[in-house]
Amino acid sequence: MNLKSLLIAFSLACCSALSAQEKPQPLSDSLYRSLAATPPMGWNSWNKFGCNVSEQLIRDMADAMAAYGLADVGYQYIVIDDCWQVSRDEDGNIVPDPERFPSGMKALADYIHGLGLKFGIYSCAGSYTCQGRPGSKGHQFQDALQYAKWGVDYLKYDWCANDGQNARAAYQTMAEAIKAAGRPIILSICEWGENKPWEWGEGIGHLWRVTPDIRACFDCTFDWGGVGVLQCIDAAADLYPYAGPGHWNDMEMLEVGNGELTYDENVTHFSMWCMMAAPLMCGNDLREMDFKIRQILTNKEVIDVNQDPLGKQAIRFMKMGDQEIWAKPLQDGEIAVCFLNRGSTPWKLDYNWRAQTMYFAREVNLKKWDYTIRDLWKHKDIGTTKERLRADIPAHGVLMVRLRKQ
Ligand code: GLA
Repeated sequence: MNLKSLLIAFSLACCSALSAQEKPQPLSDSLYRSLAATPPMGWNSWNKFGCNVSEQLIRDMADAMAAYGLADVGYQYIVIDDCWQVSRDEDGNIVPDPERFPSGMKALADYIHGLGLKFGIYSCAGSYTCQGRPGSKGHQFQDALQYAKWGVDYLKYDWCANDGQNARAAYQTMAEAIKAAGRPIILSICEWGENKPWEWGEGIGHLWRVTPDIRACFDCTFDWGGVGVLQCIDAAADLYPYAGPGHWNDMEMLEVGNGELTYDENVTHFSMWCMMAAPLMCGNDLREMDFKIRQILTNKEVIDVNQDPLGKQAIRFMKMGDQEIWAKPLQDGEIAVCFLNRGSTPWKLDYNWRAQTMYFAREVNLKKWDYTIRDLWKHKDIGTTKERLRADIPAHGVLMVRLRKQ
């Protein structure tokens, strides 16, 4: 081999080493689909802070998640919603706000990962985000590569300024971009249920919004699209066949601890999200939550219902005006049951499990009658399904139980 061919061989080896290093190993479709085996749990900045996000705020929330017992019960993702981005550079790369995020996104991701947590970010399938920041349209692969380099684990992908694109194609493009970027990133489809994402979203994203934006109220609908807790429940009620491991109906981020919701309303909100296998993204200020709010968000027995490996969404199997009964099949033949009082007067419950055999048998296949009833908010056993169940359920409140095999 002469000197010239040696040099050529050397430079070829260098180039291929370089390109192998720069070119990510694509993520297999099966690995991508296996993400979010149970509903994702975390915190998102939007509900409480809107555009007022910063590196310090995000670090504080990550610290609080780790320090106040949320990480211990399964919360993982710290997600920055809209407004972290300001422009694109001359190469089209997305530019984070240099004033609000002076250390950059990689440093922030490293900090969050250092606490054992995961890092999420927000973009939009349109040319602009809902707050008028640069969207990902035309930059999907470039953005996904950038997120992967920063260490992003979760992407909430919105639908403002979508320029009439086909929703399924737009979200599929970002899913392909993520896979090509080679990092396991959960894709949260946020097109508010407008294009029935439950019919096409499985395998493309891991959760899809089925509601307009939530507001911190129990029963409300605003002209411009905001809705309350009950409206979110109703929007998701009939979609139970579409939920399962890796693909969840997103009933919106939690408002627990925000606005004027009462204690009972907060308990109902959290209970029903858990019953319905909805993603649990806290939306409050984790630094300042009081003891009761923290107790709600960290109720492990209720969270276990949400995170049950079977991944079934509850079915509303009985409705009598404001009184509803929901049932969620759990692994090993156990069942979570939630008595929901939507009304503004208490519900004096006097329930005969045997009389309901028909409903249970049809919907959740409750064949046996030797179950212990566990109250998941009082953390105690309150009888068996052989006896009648008597309880006072407050206005806007719930009784949430787990039927345990004896
Ligand atoms: C939309 C989404 C919200 C939030 C805002 C941010 O309205 O539905 O959840 O992300 O955009 O601008």
